[in-house]
Amino acid sequence: MRSVTISELKEPSYEMSEAMNVLRTNVSYSGEGVRLVAITSVDENAGKSIVSFEMMRNYANAGLKTLLIDADLRKSVFSARYGATVDDGLQFTGLADVLSGKGEINDAVYKTNIPNAYLLPVGNYVLNPTPLFSGKIFTAMLDVLKKAFDFIIIDTPPLGRVIDAAIIAPNCNGAIIVVGANEVDYRQVNDAKNQLLRVGANVLGCVLNKVGGENAGYKHYNRYGSEYRY
Ligand SMILES: Nc1ncnc2c1ncn2[C@@H]1O[C@H](COP(=O)(O)OP(=O)(O)OP(=O)(O)O)[C@@H](O)[C@H]1O
Ligand SMILES: [Mg+2]
Repeated sequence: MRSVTISELKEPSYEMSEAMNVLRTNVSYSGEGVRLVAITSVDENAGKSIVSFEMMRNYANAGLKTLLIDADLRKSVFSARYGATVDDGLQFTGLADVLSGKGEINDAVYKTNIPNAYLLPVGNYVLNPTPLFSGKIFTAMLDVLKKAFDFIIIDTPPLGRVIDAAIIAPNCNGAIIVVGANEVDYRQVNDAKNQLLRVGANVLGCVLNKVGGENAGYKHYNRYGSEYRY
């Protein structure tokens, strides 16, 4: 298996770790079979990618073999934000390559320098990624990965921008909506929830992120299912 080194690894704050512990506990109580979750939001910048990454870290630290799939094929931030580089010096093969038939899944899943944490990055961008999630390759790939990992997190684009998350989520055991505190109103979150329910997704709840207003940083992290509960 190929490997990546993630060089920008700040330790999560105590609050963040605690919030992630609560989230993991709540997800585990939402059903025994919940091992593959999609992370989405109403609009951009809610904190999906941060929540996805910190979930991966938390689950991995808890001893679960955890995979983070970066399915934001238009706007991936992982490599840049976390300074991820491939150890063999070759190009990143990733999700877009696998789904478009240009790459093999075995070359696209990377072991990371976080024990138990694995990454399936975006890879080489494609022009119109949405149809790739409706294809058979995507569901077949998830079936293979579910056998190989204890827990899988899929970071998706915002529902209010592209339809991708609504195509991805029904193929998962659950969907979580990340809500930036004071960024969207209840109605918008409700609409996103209903959109997910209509396509047959199992909406697990919300992560309320950026609680605490200015200077929030990583300190005031998320609470799970507090203001919005389904
Ligand atoms: N709890 C938080 N406290 C302070 N800043 C945060 C918090 N969560 C996220 N941010 C900031 O908000 C921005 C967006 O975060 P992130 O990239 O995780 O959101 P996203 O939902 O994945 O965005 P996109 O829709 O563009 O993919 C980042 O600059 C991040 O540092
Ligand atoms: Mg993101």
